[in-house]
Amino acid sequence: MKLLEITGGETLSGTIRISGAKNSAVALIPAAILADSESTICNIPEITDIDALCDILDDLGVSVKRSTESVIVDPTNLKNKEIPENLSRKLRASYYFMGALLGKYKKVEMCFPGGCSIGARPIDLHLKGFEALGAKVKVKGNKYTVEAKKLKGAPIYLDIASVGATINIMLAAVKAEGKTTIDNAAKEPEIVNVATFLNSMGAKITGAGTSTIKIVGVEHLKGCFHEVIPDRIEAGTYLIIGALCGKKLKIDNIIPEHLESLTSKLQEIGASLEIGPDYITISKKAGYKGVRVQTATYPGFPTDLQQPFTTLLTQCKGNSKLEETIYENRFMHVPYLVDMGADIVIEGDTLKIKGPTKLQAREVVATDLRAGAALVAAALTAKGTTKITNVEHILRGYERIVEKLKAVGAKIKSLEI
Ligand code: EPZ
Repeated sequence: MKLLEITGGETLSGTIRISGAKNSAVALIPAAILADSESTICNIPEITDIDALCDILDDLGVSVKRSTESVIVDPTNLKNKEIPENLSRKLRASYYFMGALLGKYKKVEMCFPGGCSIGARPIDLHLKGFEALGAKVKVKGNKYTVEAKKLKGAPIYLDIASVGATINIMLAAVKAEGKTTIDNAAKEPEIVNVATFLNSMGAKITGAGTSTIKIVGVEHLKGCFHEVIPDRIEAGTYLIIGALCGKKLKIDNIIPEHLESLTSKLQEIGASLEIGPDYITISKKAGYKGVRVQTATYPGFPTDLQQPFTTLLTQCKGNSKLEETIYENRFMHVPYLVDMGADIVIEGDTLKIKGPTKLQAREVVATDLRAGAALVAAALTAKGTTKITNVEHILRGYERIVEKLKAVGAKIKSLEI
């Protein structure tokens, strides 16, 4: 098992280059099998979620060539067979193979995807979309068989603006006969990145990034070249770390517009930011004031930054209030922050935070990806040396986090125990 050892109190200066977006790349790689020929996707983050997806492609007989930050996917020899549980359980995003295999072969068999324990995370909206397109869904234990004689475009309304369901239905609908409309679609930038990839293959998708997406089915899709957008959640995490212990810390290779909900909150607490065309520079300031935060679907405050932002709120003067509206169990970082000295009370889906409080080093556990990020931020701020175990969760979503932080002055090392 891997462990991170972080000695807090250092000032971080220099440049952190942001990698490709995990939540885009994990959809683009399954989407690539919809084409009849080879695709090249660049700016792929080197994280373990990508390794897991490439293992699934390999198991399906798809040729995968990987080089630094890019992947070449050739689905010519794909054999549409059941995706075994040991592969699909490694990450939640394996469910994108449902939409892709159904969309191309009208049949998919796979076991329920894995993922963080931040909530029940059902996939009922994905399945409702597949059924609307004419598929039959059979569930036996945790194995799903979804198949259709014909996929026919249909109007689909999502009860929740689900990112996964929006993308998965897009994947299933691009080759369906006729027109599909997804209403109350999620608007995240990652969805636009996937729609652009599919359109480059020859799909006919309009409205991605709005709450109504229209798809007209096509016969064939051809492989193409595509680029993953920068990871706004990785960028946001490092901005929060910069607000806690940075001095002219430059977060580079980003799309600042994707981070507006965070940057406006950082300005509200009193952080000083310089926002450039593709970077943001941030320095820690004294006297941050407490604020109210409510997570929401894009362009609202992202739930994926709720946990690291909690750490920052412990350093803000007065009372802060943070409401998590997307997941029912996304506060598992809180007991560890409290053990480090934070004053946080959980009241249902809301955190009441009093600050600033001095944080002390402790031995803590990363319970999920973004909780781990919150603990890294806390350890960089705390007095002493913090040990974080279960860091495999963190490595799923943050490319070379130890190297990136060390390069700007953090005292951090990764150990095997
Ligand atoms: C994506 O998850 C991201 N993961 C999550 O990031 C992110 O937190 C989430 O979107 C919201 O932005 C990937 O893209 C791989 P949802 P997803 O479907 O698609 C409920 C991270 O840290 N729901 O938008 O699974 C669901 O339970 C991860 O990088 C249903 O009820 O999220 C949740 O409460 C964590 N039925 C809410 O909707 C469904 O069929 C939003 O989920 C689908 C979702």
